Amino acid sequence: MTARPRILVVGAGGREHALVRALQRSASEPELLCAPGNPGIAAGARLLPVAVDDVAGLAGAAQDAACDLVVIGPEAPLVGGLADELAARGIAAFGPSAAAARLEGSKAFAKEVMEAAGVPTARWSVVDDVDAGMAAIERYPVVLKFDGLAAGKGVVIAADARQARAALEEFLVARRFGAGRVVVEECLEGEELSLLALCDGERALPMAPAQDYKRIFDGDEGPNTGGMGSYSPVPGIGPERVAQIAALVHQPIVDLLAARGTPFHGVLYAGIMLTADGPKVLEYNVRFGDPETQAVLPRLRSDAHELLAAAARPGGLAGARLDFGDDWAVTLVLASAGYPEAPRTGDVIAGLDEVDAAIEVTHAGTARRDEDGAIVTAGGRVLNVTALAATPALARDGAYAAARGISFAGSQLRSDIALRAVDR
Ligand code: AMP
Ligand code: GLY
Repeated sequence: MTARPRILVVGAGGREHALVRALQRSASEPELLCAPGNPGIAAGARLLPVAVDDVAGLAGAAQDAACDLVVIGPEAPLVGGLADELAARGIAAFGPSAAAARLEGSKAFAKEVMEAAGVPTARWSVVDDVDAGMAAIERYPVVLKFDGLAAGKGVVIAADARQARAALEEFLVARRFGAGRVVVEECLEGEELSLLALCDGERALPMAPAQDYKRIFDGDEGPNTGGMGSYSPVPGIGPERVAQIAALVHQPIVDLLAARGTPFHGVLYAGIMLTADGPKVLEYNVRFGDPETQAVLPRLRSDAHELLAAAARPGGLAGARLDFGDDWAVTLVLASAGYPEAPRTGDVIAGLDEVDAAIEVTHAGTARRDEDGAIVTAGGRVLNVTALAATPALARDGAYAAARGISFAGSQLRSDIALRAVDR
């Protein structure tokens, strides 16, 4: 009998819970570990108490546990060089090297690479002081992006000169996210699309398209969040259109990074604006999207372990296929009181045990309370609820029915997720 493969998933959110679930469906029946994980993930993986930004600790834990593969969820350990550290120890990693992860770690680097690869994107310039920033603005609204990791809070759409100056001062003078430059970018109009592709250093294999809802309130009002809901697939973006977009925005980046000697392995996530002049890239992420992954992976029919292991090898995806079911998936995010500014924690969550077995509930910001074992809120985005069904309307109804059965004090849930797909 061959030993079961051992896989470490790095991260603690809903995305990692969805990854663990997808890996549990793999034919190889892998033994799963997760660092640091959360109480929901604990049902499917053994948890290791190592923080996501402890690169040396994570690599050491993977080596001690004799892992065959490490699947890296969040951006911080990727930008921090975890894939390189694992490679040095001879452990396969699903995720890019620090050099390739700069695509997400530096907006200015991403822009430079897009220009060199001929990928369509908004017009831009990079500045390092407030006056240069103001001088670079051609019209309003304008988009100002801090050139570094800022947990989704480094992008401001300024409606006028007063707002633009305030944002430039916050980034460049008050240094809210530390030292760094600012990308001044043309504001694009259109509908957004998240298209993720699995990459093996040579080719990009697009996954099913998804749509994310970034703002906290219904009607896309209020501040940006990490994402309040998602659905997949996207009406009007069929397989041919997906292949065209991937040829335009993913493959040229993979080719360029390979030519530069920093091949891209893992997920290349393109945040795209579908403008009147065609698709344009807003940003790249170098990891699975959250909450897009919670809607996309339950639809995956191909073997997740085979695919992720193949992507870790140079050219490993040759001949691989990515098959998705015909179902629609709708994912809702239950967020805590005060999110995104000041999420409250410690509220007891009720109703988890009564959720219909056909619904995928993934844990994002939850903890188990020491005194009594109760599951309590422990972060901004607390839980994700995903329903699959034959139509967007049925998936939406299923997800909302399940989400309304889960309660905690101050819970925030948008009521308009996936309406766009239903209304088409
Ligand atoms: P990013 O982190 O670069 O994706 O930006 C976060 C969000 O800001 C995006 O999902 C868009 O909603 C918005 N955004 C970013 N860049 C632009 C742009 N050039 N034009 C319009 N909206 C943008
Ligand atoms: N849902 C947006 C992100 O993962 O960055």
